Amino acid sequence: MFSRYKKSGLEEKPGTAPAKQQVAVQAKPAEKTVRRTPAKVEARSPAADKERKRKERLGDIKLEMHKELLDNLNLGALESATEKDLRAEIMAITSESLEEMGLVLNREERRQLNQDLYDEVTGLGPLETLLKDETVNDILVNGPNQVFVERAGRLELTDTTFKDERHLLRIIDKIVSAVGRRVDESNPHVDARLADGSRFNAMVPPVAVDGSLVSIRKFKKDKLGIDELVDFGAFSEEMAVYLQAAVSTRLNIIVSGGTGSGKTTTLNALSGFIDDNERILTIEDTAELQLQQTHVGRMESRPPNVEGKGAVSQRDCLKNALRMRPDRIIVGETRGEEVIDMLQAMNTGHDGSMTTIHANSARDAVSRLENMVAMAGIEMPLKAIRNQIASAVNLFVQISRLQDGSRRMVSITEITGMEGEVISMQELFRYERLGLQPDGKIIGRFTATGVRSHFSDRFRQWGFDLPATLFEPASGE
Ligand SMILES: Nc1ncnc2c1ncn2[C@@H]1O[C@H](COP(=O)(O)OP(=O)(O)OP(=O)(O)O)[C@@H](O)[C@H]1O
Ligand SMILES: [Mg+2]
Repeated sequence: MFSRYKKSGLEEKPGTAPAKQQVAVQAKPAEKTVRRTPAKVEARSPAADKERKRKERLGDIKLEMHKELLDNLNLGALESATEKDLRAEIMAITSESLEEMGLVLNREERRQLNQDLYDEVTGLGPLETLLKDETVNDILVNGPNQVFVERAGRLELTDTTFKDERHLLRIIDKIVSAVGRRVDESNPHVDARLADGSRFNAMVPPVAVDGSLVSIRKFKKDKLGIDELVDFGAFSEEMAVYLQAAVSTRLNIIVSGGTGSGKTTTLNALSGFIDDNERILTIEDTAELQLQQTHVGRMESRPPNVEGKGAVSQRDCLKNALRMRPDRIIVGETRGEEVIDMLQAMNTGHDGSMTTIHANSARDAVSRLENMVAMAGIEMPLKAIRNQIASAVNLFVQISRLQDGSRRMVSITEITGMEGEVISMQELFRYERLGLQPDGKIIGRFTATGVRSHFSDRFRQWGFDLPATLFEPASGE
């Protein structure tokens, strides 16, 4: 029932004092042990059955103890208590209650129990372990009984569960109230940044039909840099060389991709090519970017408060940013009316600005931009909008999360101008799929298309003399 008990030494070392464990489990009258699926239980071996009962029992104990703790702990004093004091207090209360219940736990079980209770009281209960697990990227909760995580690009179902919807709601409430937000029936969704920088989104019933939905994008302290991304096969060294020239010579770049495809990671990595003496302003809905430069001003938009007041939109930040003498502006994700100011900034001397956009290809990204401009209520003929886009944006970098979970830069496309009513573009690099391994991994390679960069002269003037071979396609099939 509770994952951490499974992870404890109990399973791996069946030889360690099993007799004692059974005594502990059976010390309590048996009627409390609920048999939920008798058919399944009978099919199992007696040892597995005992183990299962034991886990259920430990789960029950934890719940009882948790209630006990909440009754006995001075919750008001929790805030100021040191970790050491709190742990000591929890330990004292649990030992006492265990004694009252006539239960004997071994050392490891006691340690686990204390840790779980500490997590429940101070932290985020069942989520705490997943949040601490460095290998987990995303945590996705679908109601109290189903928690998925993403590890190395793959989604896995975990055995973490919440006691019930109320337990899950309590944890959600704890998270959002810590960042000054509220979520309830009348205000059923929330998007926030946790204290550690992780991105948090929740949707609660009745809008979430089968129990609260939570998604957490864990904050990575060390963002993937260009070298690591090349090592991971996210893009080729040739593409990195090209991108270095593009960023250094201040092309305006849009990173485009689907949800969770690696847009923010790529934007962050690209920013590594910016010279250290430039003044950079970043604007995000949830501050995720971690720029390495010295001169960085970070802004985060703010949703309205409970009374619907106090909102500061990305557009507000962007308008203000233009008065703050930036060399470059980086907008975490352009998704609405701020597109107008972004395009204007790109057109008016803030070269080298960057943003991300939710789209499936460079063409798609252009239509998204067009739509956003139209939605912002700007009455402009389509051709004028396209002209605006064509002169603002120089480059689209398309990222994709492929079906095997790998994240790759599938295309680098330059805007070369307008032909009549249409924005003309040329693709310089792409990812070619060659086949599928038996284990489902995609076989592919990065290749240039053979087209020379539209910005070759500019690169040369800035001292980036890219060799012609960089743009030559890979040979053979
Ligand atoms: N090339 C890569 N290889 C492995 N992991 C990656 C790669 N790129 C990104 N990731 C990881 O994938 C997760 C999602 O990345 P990121 O936040 O950059 O995506 P996103 O497209 O900005 O997502 P969203 O649409 O939710 O904003 C992160 O945990 C990140 O560390
Ligand atoms: Mg992102």
